Amino acid sequence: MKFIDLQQQYQTIQPRIDQAIQKVINHGQYILGPEVFKLEAELASYSGTKYCVSCSSGTDALLMSLMAKKIGPGDAVFTTPFTFIATAEVIQLLGATPVFVDIRDDTFNIDTSKLEIAIHKCQSNAELIPKAIIPVDIFGLPADYEMIEKIGNKFDLCIIEDAAQSFGGKIKNRKAGSLGDIGTTSFFPAKPLGCYGDGGAIFTNDQEISEILISIRNHGQGKSKYNNIRIGINGRLDTIQAAILLEKMKIFPEELHLRNAIAKKYTNNLNQYFTCQHVPDGYESAWAQFSILALNSKERSICMKKLKDSGIPTAIYYPKPLHLQEAFCNLDYALGDFPVSESISQRIFSLPMHPYLTDDNINKICEILISCKEIVE
Ligand SMILES: Cc1ncc(COP(=O)(O)O)c(C=O)c1O
Repeated sequence: MKFIDLQQQYQTIQPRIDQAIQKVINHGQYILGPEVFKLEAELASYSGTKYCVSCSSGTDALLMSLMAKKIGPGDAVFTTPFTFIATAEVIQLLGATPVFVDIRDDTFNIDTSKLEIAIHKCQSNAELIPKAIIPVDIFGLPADYEMIEKIGNKFDLCIIEDAAQSFGGKIKNRKAGSLGDIGTTSFFPAKPLGCYGDGGAIFTNDQEISEILISIRNHGQGKSKYNNIRIGINGRLDTIQAAILLEKMKIFPEELHLRNAIAKKYTNNLNQYFTCQHVPDGYESAWAQFSILALNSKERSICMKKLKDSGIPTAIYYPKPLHLQEAFCNLDYALGDFPVSESISQRIFSLPMHPYLTDDNINKICEILISCKEIVE
């Protein structure tokens, strides 16, 4: 069994993907070719935002967004320590300061009651100016944007949604990617909508920001190629990746539907025995991962080993919260600072999740997990 089965997906759409790639090779516009702009229009229409700027990865999508907002030394950006390193890495890369806020123990997303406290605390630090919040839609589930928006407005902070894992998720009719002032996503192959390499996109309704982003992704280009009006990066999405994504977009709604059906089966089978990620009313996850909590790290090890012995892969997202990573030792955080993130990191593990999992696969995984519970008890 595969953790994520990209081969099976390819087999179902192989002729269309091969043709799309061949078409790019034939027309030869490998950089910023027509497929890139067609994809941007489709992504904007899907997410319900006015503008979409595609780019080279989810990491660069975050980096470019912070650059467009001129975030740098002396600026504080609030995010959670329970995320992939890229979320906080880009803040520090620009010389700004990541300020971590713990997560909720049910959704695993930023705890907005703690966010406000962290902002107040930061305001009393003369060296830092609160500038932005990067809420992460962890495992595909949007964070609590109703509260985040209120807090953002109250303190005049820009909200940059890290929707790397949540493209396809939504809150009522508002799609992930459109939930902040700027939204970023990743097309890393294993993401719900993935390409065959690195890729990403940025969403916004702000025309000025979209124009700045287009300039940043092409070395700060102005009106012509050798007119550079700001410092930017090479942040472009390859035309071949755009062509692949256009084909994958056609099956994306059906794949999303299948992911949701699988998550529902997992939850129904397991929630008496394990804590499953809570999806609040009106929210839909893109189910980048299906993650559950064991009682403790010992129980987690037993479950993962028993699944492995039966040929079932699992993964731990994330074994160490970011405030305890050496890369952020300059921030002077310590064990105990974010108890929810720390406890969840010890207990969480993710099960195989992709649209092509069968009922037999799901039943087998759940039976093994439930049998582990009996051993531990
Ligand atoms: C929450 C989060 N943010 C950012 C990223 C970075 O995306 P990429 O790998 O496309 O650079 C990822 C990718 O795993 C992610 O999970």
